[in-house]
Amino acid sequence: MLKLCVWVCLMVLFCWVLGGGEFGVEGLGVNWGAIATHKLPPKVVVQMLKDNGIQKVKLFDADESALKALAGSNIEVMVAIPNDQLAAMNDFDRAKKWVKSNITRYNFDGGVNIKYVAVGNEPFLKSYNNSFLNVTFPALQNVQNALNDAGVGDTIKATVPLNADVYNSPEDNPVPSSGRFRTDITDQMTQIVKFLDQHKSPFTVNIYPFLSLYYGEGEFPVNYAFFDGDTTPVIDNGIQYTNVFDANLDTLVSALKSIGFGNMTIFVGEVGWPTDGDQYATMEMAVRFYNGLLPRLGKNIGTPLRPGYIEVYLFGLMDEDAKSILPGNFERHWGIFRYDGQPKFPLDLSGGTNNTLLVAAQGVTYMPNKWCALNPNAKDLSKLAENVEYACTNGDCTSLGYGSSCNGLDEKGNASYAFNTYYQMNNQDDSSCNFQGLATVTTQNISQANCNFTIQLVPLPSSSATGRTVTLALPVLVVFFALLL
Ligand SMILES: *[C@@H]1O[C@H](CO)[C@@H](O)[C@H](O)[C@H]1NC(C)=O
Ligand SMILES: *[C@@H]1O[C@H](CO)[C@@H](O)[C@H](O)[C@H]1NC(C)=O
Ligand SMILES: *[C@@H]1O[C@H](CO)[C@@H](O)[C@H](O)[C@H]1NC(C)=O
Ligand SMILES: *[C@@H]1O[C@H](CO)[C@@H](O)[C@H](O)[C@H]1NC(C)=O
Ligand SMILES: *[C@@H]1O[C@H](CO)[C@@H](O)[C@H](O)[C@H]1NC(C)=O
Ligand SMILES: *[C@@H]1O[C@H](CO)[C@@H](O)[C@H](O)[C@H]1NC(C)=O
Ligand SMILES: *[C@@H]1O[C@H](CO)[C@@H](O)[C@H](O)[C@H]1NC(C)=O
Ligand SMILES: *[C@@H]1O[C@H](CO)[C@@H](O)[C@H](O)[C@H]1NC(C)=O
Repeated sequence: MLKLCVWVCLMVLFCWVLGGGEFGVEGLGVNWGAIATHKLPPKVVVQMLKDNGIQKVKLFDADESALKALAGSNIEVMVAIPNDQLAAMNDFDRAKKWVKSNITRYNFDGGVNIKYVAVGNEPFLKSYNNSFLNVTFPALQNVQNALNDAGVGDTIKATVPLNADVYNSPEDNPVPSSGRFRTDITDQMTQIVKFLDQHKSPFTVNIYPFLSLYYGEGEFPVNYAFFDGDTTPVIDNGIQYTNVFDANLDTLVSALKSIGFGNMTIFVGEVGWPTDGDQYATMEMAVRFYNGLLPRLGKNIGTPLRPGYIEVYLFGLMDEDAKSILPGNFERHWGIFRYDGQPKFPLDLSGGTNNTLLVAAQGVTYMPNKWCALNPNAKDLSKLAENVEYACTNGDCTSLGYGSSCNGLDEKGNASYAFNTYYQMNNQDDSSCNFQGLATVTTQNISQANCNFTIQLVPLPSSSATGRTVTLALPVLVVFFALLL
């Protein structure tokens, strides 16, 4: 008995130390996206989370290698079902199979601490043209019911991360207290909210002050995206709003209230600031944003209509160089870490005021120090533009545009940059540094002051992704995980 007590007390102490700060045991989460040409090994990522005291992570699928790496870490996990699988989840048997192979399989002592299942990702985004309008709610029902069926429904809750454009205030009264769900999806939203309430599941919303600036076309007051209070407040029933984050979240609170669920738990599934790819996406602005956001979260200030703790997941953990740039070039630069797990700027994730560089990923392996550059001996440059375009289409030139870190390069610098990203993405294969004789490999670091010509990571063995789907007996699994650690 005494032994047990000592053990429990030690665990509590241990968790408290890990929590390291003012969030207490609650803690701040991060989104671990992996749409990258060269991924960090999942074990390296999990160690990086641990080294930085990050106890909650949100995924965008149920990737086997990520979940295996998370096993035994005790990090709380939100796994996800991508939008393109929502229609399949309208079949209850399919949902049960999904739960069996992606939830129950990891649900054992020393397994993965899964707490939530994200059903879809922003399925009602206007740009999806209603593609997921009718499949989202049935998928949510089936997944939660399958979790209940499997006996884990009390501890694992299904939710739907929604974009903030599912609600708004009328143009003639643009204040948070007049928030309503979008009229074209009121029925769907009402069904979803009722269901979440019945099952004690949170409402999850992604809030992006950066996008207010980006899409605001110069009309949105820049300071309102930050938390310094240096702006003309929006006054609503005597409440002063000096930042768009509070105003946005309270618009949601009002929308929920308007359908009778004003007290529903709200999670912020994504919030963050990108550091490259746009004039507003800079290190300085990201630091300013996080230096406003994190201390408020750490002190559990909440918003005027929702004072107190709010569960929040930062977006995102690392830069992802294969994300679609349809929304903008900034899409590949949301990480608080670079693509290689190097911290970008000092932060205090505990919500205090002691900003320090986060602990970098350990044991990262890079390819050799070789770059691809414009061949100084190339005479005929008539085909340069089309070759640069090819390199950029298949590589990543999101740092070259207006307001970005490499925008200062001249035309030749641009060409070298483009050739190098293509070469690195192709694992420094010699044939990928030719471009009709315009390019050549060099061992000289051709990076410039603020512009990194990066060396990519050694690619992960692809065999690890083939994932055999044998149902292993529990003891075997435990041994397997033990070997992994
Ligand atoms: C489990 O999740 C993975 C990764 O998201 C997915 O590819 C797979 O289809 C899921 N399994 C089932 C049985 O649905
Ligand atoms: C949505 O509709 C617009 C205009 O009709 C079209 O350009 C776009 O490709 C569509 N998007 C999707 C995801 O279907
Ligand atoms: C969704 O269902 C409604 C009602 O059944 C139907 O009118 C509508 O066309 C459907 N929308 C889509 C995009 O499938
Ligand atoms: C919502 O929460 C407030 C504060 O805790 C409480 O006073 C109120 O009765 C609750 N309303 C409902 C509908 O539960
Ligand atoms: C700030 O953090 C650093 C690194 O974690 C630590 O060494 C230092 O003692 C901290 N300073 C304060 C005032 O907490
Ligand atoms: C370099 O490329 C960027 C992005 O395509 C472009 O905006 C810029 O004008 C180019 N610079 C020169 C000198 O061509
Ligand atoms: C290349 O130079 C840049 C800028 O000086 C530096 O940040 C980077 O680490 C260097 N890269 C390598 C692989 O040495
Ligand atoms: C370039 O890379 C180095 C090494 O990781 C890093 O310290 C530096 O901050 C990077 N510079 C830019 C502008 O991204």
